[in-house]
Amino acid sequence: MADPVDLRVADLHPAVDDPALNSMNFLNEVAQHYPDAVSLAAGRPYEEFFDVAALHRHLETFRRHLADDLGQSPAQVQRTLFQYGRTKGIVHHLVARNLAVDEGMTVDPEAIVVTVGCQEAMFLVLRALRADPRDVLLAVAPTYVGLTGAARLLDLPVRPVRGGPAGIDLADLREQVRLARAAGLRPRACYVMPDFANPSGTSIGPADRRRLLDLAAEEDLLLLEDNPYGLFPASDAGRPPTLKALDTARRVVYLGSFAKTVLPGARVGYVVADQRVAGADGNVGLLADQLAKIKSMVTVNTSAIAQAVVGGALLEHGCSLAAATVRERAAYGRNLRHLVDGLARRFPAGTSPVRWNVPAGGFFVVVTVPFGVDDALLHRSAREYGLLWTPMAHFYDDGAPVDALRLSVSAVTPDQIDLGLDRLAALVADETARRAATADVG
Ligand SMILES: Cc1ncc(COP(=O)(O)O)c(C=O)c1O
Repeated sequence: MADPVDLRVADLHPAVDDPALNSMNFLNEVAQHYPDAVSLAAGRPYEEFFDVAALHRHLETFRRHLADDLGQSPAQVQRTLFQYGRTKGIVHHLVARNLAVDEGMTVDPEAIVVTVGCQEAMFLVLRALRADPRDVLLAVAPTYVGLTGAARLLDLPVRPVRGGPAGIDLADLREQVRLARAAGLRPRACYVMPDFANPSGTSIGPADRRRLLDLAAEEDLLLLEDNPYGLFPASDAGRPPTLKALDTARRVVYLGSFAKTVLPGARVGYVVADQRVAGADGNVGLLADQLAKIKSMVTVNTSAIAQAVVGGALLEHGCSLAAATVRERAAYGRNLRHLVDGLARRFPAGTSPVRWNVPAGGFFVVVTVPFGVDDALLHRSAREYGLLWTPMAHFYDDGAPVDALRLSVSAVTPDQIDLGLDRLAALVADETARRAATADVG
């Protein structure tokens, strides 16, 4: 006899059965099911530069920093590395230095909370902002599924703002704020990825960044700026300042991740939350301190060992991750160019209906094809063509059909890109012919 059932999904928080929470599992399961397929799906960093010896070195570098630079006694060093620690983190001063060196940002280290990946940072911020059932979050669509999933867990509806080729449609943002307010809702913030967004690959230009900040001020809206890919421009053309670097009015909560610049296994990210928050008693503190209270009930503190590894990596490069990731930047830029050139060769303009964007950096390219792209097609692509990619429908919240897929260049070699694109071309040709034949019969 089958074991009796103890609980039903229907009796758990509705988010556990939401497509946003199933998305990552689904994509991982497909990848595990077809281990030999070429994966242009994974947004993981390049593995060729991983080095176990570096972990030991980083730890030792950070230990010496505690002793020599911060003057900690051997007992204090031991406590820092072994004990429960400061809720807001132990590498906050190095993160602040990194932001100054790489981004030209002046940040009070006390306004930084070091988190268990950027994912926890998003969760803490959304938890803090979601104060009332009327609260909603605006997010540029398509958007990162980790953001949508975190919002679901917090019963915070996400309302899409058109992204488009410029990264954000500012007129639509204003309209969405107006519509939400007209419906009695409170838009608390807008989530944006101004640099090489996941999944769209788009970036917001310098003029629009300033307009976005102005609009946020006019509409009394916070901006949540997520920037995991900013250090990976594909050329030397440089990139505009971050929103946070331009933010003179504390409108921007800045979300950072060391997953792509140091290593994802450490699970270290952070949030810069310098907004001034008044308490009922009239005392004013930082939003970071409110986030720390929430963090103390979610993960207590970010692993000291993991922070030490990241801290050591920062110290070894004068706190510049741009300097630490020269090889990675070159590999990602090379791969992005290779992918875009490869697409142009296989889908010539004028004869092919296949389209794609040409991002200025980052990991992702969006390819639009002349048919709907769903999970069933992904399965077929993996099974019959040995190719993985990500259906763009996963990054929209409305369940509507989407005719595009995301290709990632971060965890592959140029040869694998060639093989993957040959397979994509075969899939597109067969699928187009199949649909044409079905239409003829119909
Ligand atoms: C846009 C975006 N934000 C956040 C994250 C998560 O970062 P972390 O691994 O630091 O939690 C990712 C990871 O892929 C991402 O693409």
